[in-house]
Amino acid sequence: MSNRYAALEARVAALDAAGLRRQLVALRPTSATTARAGSEDLVVFCSNDYLGLAAHPEVQAAFLGSGAGSARLVSGNRPAHVELEEALGEHFGRPATLFGSGYAANLGLLTTVLQRGDRVVSDALNHASIIDGLRLSGAERQIVPHGGDTESLPGARLAVTESLFSMDGDLADFTRWTGEPWLAVDEAHAVGALGPDGRGLAADRGVDPDFLVGTLGKAFGAAGAFVVGPSALRELLVSTARSFVYSTGMPEGVARAALVGLRLANAERRERLARNAARLRSGLRQIGAQVLGEAHIVPVLTGSRTMQVARALRSDGVFAPGIRHPTVPRGLERVRFTASSEHTDEQIDRCIAAMAAALSQTA
Ligand SMILES: Cc1ncc(COP(=O)(O)O)c(C=O)c1O
Repeated sequence: MSNRYAALEARVAALDAAGLRRQLVALRPTSATTARAGSEDLVVFCSNDYLGLAAHPEVQAAFLGSGAGSARLVSGNRPAHVELEEALGEHFGRPATLFGSGYAANLGLLTTVLQRGDRVVSDALNHASIIDGLRLSGAERQIVPHGGDTESLPGARLAVTESLFSMDGDLADFTRWTGEPWLAVDEAHAVGALGPDGRGLAADRGVDPDFLVGTLGKAFGAAGAFVVGPSALRELLVSTARSFVYSTGMPEGVARAALVGLRLANAERRERLARNAARLRSGLRQIGAQVLGEAHIVPVLTGSRTMQVARALRSDGVFAPGIRHPTVPRGLERVRFTASSEHTDEQIDRCIAAMAAALSQTA
């Protein structure tokens, strides 16, 4: 009898052969920075819960409530959505629109503001959700080297960049991105964590992007995402963005948890995050690791031995999986550490010692 799924199984086997089959690990959080995987107790150094708010009792208590039951334009619009959009609008100074995820937010934004015939300039290291949004938009894509390129901006409709880059941990230089086209900035890893009142890197640099994407599932400890921009954008998103119109509204508990996260993301937590990131970075540099970037995302280039390094870290109780192709280019595989405001000095030092051991074991 022929195997109905032979073609799929062959692709799984090919992934396996290339060392690219990914595995899910079920982690049960035991504190803001620790988790259990089966019988293993691990210190987590790869969460985007930068301010430890996902574990905060007030955020967790807020998750109560019902599912939306339909898209917001049908019967799924809740007072919690409206309240959260108002709070975000006030915080970021312009109308905000909620999406189920940052992925959906980028798709919604980019397919809405771009039209066929437009040219868009995009950083080479932009996130997959930006790449997919640009592809879906049908606009002419001009991918420029990481860091930005002022020369390609004239005549373009839109320039799009992350602010704190998710896999390189470096910060956009907005002077290279600001010009004639509209500017869209994906602040997924920066809102809550960087800038005045946690409004992100652009706000920190005195830049007011036309469109800003922020997530609620990282520093704010909940889930979902939002787009901030002019009122006309809000109207277009609600009426035409397919990832808004054709998707169930977020559960009201998620919106309430995000509201609490927004309130709890305060300057003390941001200061602790910056201090912990600096301690982790300098400790890893001191052991000779090839550390990239400059903020609370702390990638270490480990190349072909990345998965071995990640395994060695885990056997030492430190959880930070390896990042491989296609998330990063071949040859630039890495272990991506992230700092949390809630890591203790002892946990950070343990991570650095575990990395020193892992690097020497796999040399
Ligand atoms: C830069 C960037 N944008 C968007 C997203 C997607 O956000 P979400 O996880 O809310 O879908 C991510 C996720 O990691 C990201 O790193």
